[in-house]
Amino acid sequence: MIRFDILTVLPGLLESPFAHSILHRAQKKGLTEIHVYNLRDYSSNKHKSVDDYPYGGGSGMVMMIEPFAVCIEKLKAEREYDEVIFMTPDGVTLNQGLANKLSSVKNIMILCGHYKGIDQRVRDLYVTREMSIGDYVLSGGELPAAILVDAIVRLIPGVLSDETSALSDSFQDDMLDAPVYTRPADWKGHKVPDILLSGNTPEIEKWRFEQAMERTKARRPDLLE
Ligand code: ADE
Repeated sequence: MIRFDILTVLPGLLESPFAHSILHRAQKKGLTEIHVYNLRDYSSNKHKSVDDYPYGGGSGMVMMIEPFAVCIEKLKAEREYDEVIFMTPDGVTLNQGLANKLSSVKNIMILCGHYKGIDQRVRDLYVTREMSIGDYVLSGGELPAAILVDAIVRLIPGVLSDETSALSDSFQDDMLDAPVYTRPADWKGHKVPDILLSGNTPEIEKWRFEQAMERTKARRPDLLE
């Protein structure tokens, strides 16, 4: 069971990703808990504002420390966190190895930033890990947070119905996946490779490995280094 506590100014952005499919089922099965907190509820300001102008000038607003600090301190008083992760394009890029590692912890807090950034003191005081989902800039940390949660939750034993299917994922062994097919065997003359219809399991496995290797060499040679 992994518990996620996600702090955001846009809780609505996180509703749908967790309400469907595997993430939804994992919560119903009690294999994960995902809690979302609206930072506005932790502002003492009478306008419930969560951001302010940057010291020193410059464009964009900066998220204030107070709502983060109050919410984080409250949660930390309730349980111990293995990780407090800040989603940011200047963090370490998420990969399957990191997802594997994080799937073995108990309590993960995720901070979502917005606007021009968050007060550096939040990062200095609370964050154990800064993570990016890739070299591009999104409008906020919510979609990256949902991606991180998805990548972790599907690795929790019992979440996927076929336990082996996460093990055979692309990247799990530093290789991409072989192509897959389903019925019909012939779609307007476009045929499924004969080998897959042969019933010869060892030959099929061999073919899959070769295909995976070819694909990895062509698309992601860096994985084979
Ligand atoms: N926030 C904005 N862009 C991001 C990214 N690429 N990864 C993580 N958090 C982000």
